[in-house]
Amino acid sequence: MTLQGKRILICISGGIAAYKINLLIRDLIKKGAEVQVLMTPSAENFVSKLTLSTLSKNPVFLDFYSENGTWNNHVEFALWADLILFAPCTANTLAKMVHGICDNLVIATYMSAKCPVFIAPAMDLDMYQHPSTKQNLELAEDFGHFIIPAESGELASGLFGQGRMAEPDTISEKIEEFFHSNSNKSLMGKTVLITAGPTYEAIDPVRFIGNHSSGKMGFSIAEEAAKRGAKVILISGPSSQKTADPNIEIHRISSAREMFDEVFKHYQNADIAIASAAVADYAPKEVAKEKIKKSEDSLTIELVKNPDILKTMGERKSKQFLVGFALETQNEEENAKGKLEKKNLDMIVLNSLRDEGAGFKIDTNKIKIFTKTRLKEFQLKSKNEVAKDILNFIEAQILK
Ligand code: PMT
Repeated sequence: MTLQGKRILICISGGIAAYKINLLIRDLIKKGAEVQVLMTPSAENFVSKLTLSTLSKNPVFLDFYSENGTWNNHVEFALWADLILFAPCTANTLAKMVHGICDNLVIATYMSAKCPVFIAPAMDLDMYQHPSTKQNLELAEDFGHFIIPAESGELASGLFGQGRMAEPDTISEKIEEFFHSNSNKSLMGKTVLITAGPTYEAIDPVRFIGNHSSGKMGFSIAEEAAKRGAKVILISGPSSQKTADPNIEIHRISSAREMFDEVFKHYQNADIAIASAAVADYAPKEVAKEKIKKSEDSLTIELVKNPDILKTMGERKSKQFLVGFALETQNEEENAKGKLEKKNLDMIVLNSLRDEGAGFKIDTNKIKIFTKTRLKEFQLKSKNEVAKDILNFIEAQILK
C-alpha cells in the first residue's frame, strides 16, 4: 500500500486516452490512495462518469453546479488534494492552465491548488510538436509542475509518432516515486545556504572575466536539499539554470563582490553552507566606463584580489556545517586538504578536471569527499545523484 492515505485528484480532459484512466484509478486505489475525479465537459464524450465514480468510489464532477443546484466548490477540491494529476491533458487544457483561462471546474480547481501538479499530455503528434505546446509545457515546468512526457506509437489519427499518453503503470510509478522521495524530510527545519555558478568581473560595459561554470552542480544540490525539507537560500552567479521549487529562495548576482555581500546577508541563519560557485579570484582594478577601443597591439588590465567568500565564512563560523568545493587540475588531494584546513571547513568536495565526465557544464561529476578524518571516493554519476551523495554525507556528519 505505497500510496496509503494519499489524496489524488485526477482531472480528465477530452482525449481518446481518457479510457485508460479507468485502469489508473483501479491501480491507485489498490495502492491505498483516495481518488477524486473531475472532468472537463468534453471528457464525458470519451469515458463514462458511472465507470469513473464506481472505480474511484466518489462522485465525479464536471460543472460548477450539480443538477440539484448545489455548488461544486473548486477551492475545497484543491485543498483536499495531496497531488493533482491532469491525464490525459489535451493541448487545450494545457494552454488554459498556463495562461489562466479559467472557464471550467477543472481549471478553477487547478488555479486554487497549492499541491504538486502532474501533467500527462496526450494529443496528435503534430499538436505535440507545435511550438505553442512546447512553450506551454516549458511554462508548466517553470511553474514547478511535473511533466510525464507523451510516448511514441500509433495514435488515434492512425499516424505514428509521439503523442500517446504515458501508460497508466508509468503514471502510477511516477506518483509513487514522488511520494516516496518526498517522505525523506531529513533536513526539515534546517536552513541551507548554497553558492552556485560563475562570477563575472566587469572589464568595461561590454566585457568581463568569467569561467565555464553552468550552475548545474549548485542547482542540483539546492533542489535535493529542498526535497529533503530544507529552507534553501541559493546565491547564484550568471546561469541559465532555473528552479521553481517554492522552498528555494534564489538570489542572482553577477560579481564575486556581490556574491560576498549577498552571502553574508544570510550566513548567520544558515545551519549548513555549501560553496559550489566558481568564484573569480581576481577582478579588474578599474572598470572602464566606456567600451575599451581597439588601439594598441597589447592591452594590460591590472587585476586585484577578490574577497575569499568561503575563507571568510570559515572565519565567521558559529553553528554552520561548512562545505567547500575544490576544482583542481593537479596535486588534487593535497590542494583539497590544504583548502579544508586553511578555510576552516568541515568538509570539502574535490572534483578534478583530469577526470573524464567531471567538472564544468556537463550533467555528470566525479567527486571525492574529505573531512579532517575521512576520505570517501565516488563513481562518475549524474549531478543530481552527486548532490544526493553530498547531502547524505553531510547528514551523516551532523547527526553523528
Ligand atoms: O557549475 P557547473 O558547470 O555544474 O560546474 C560545477 C563546478 C565545477 C563549478 C563545481 O563542482 C566546483 O568545483 N565548484 C568550485 C569551483 C572553484 O572555484 O573551486 P576553487 O578550488 O577555485 O575554490 C575553492 C572553494 O573556495 C570553492 O568552494 C569556491 O566556491 C570558494 N571560493 C573561491 C574563491 C573565492 N574568491 N571565494 C570563494 O568562496
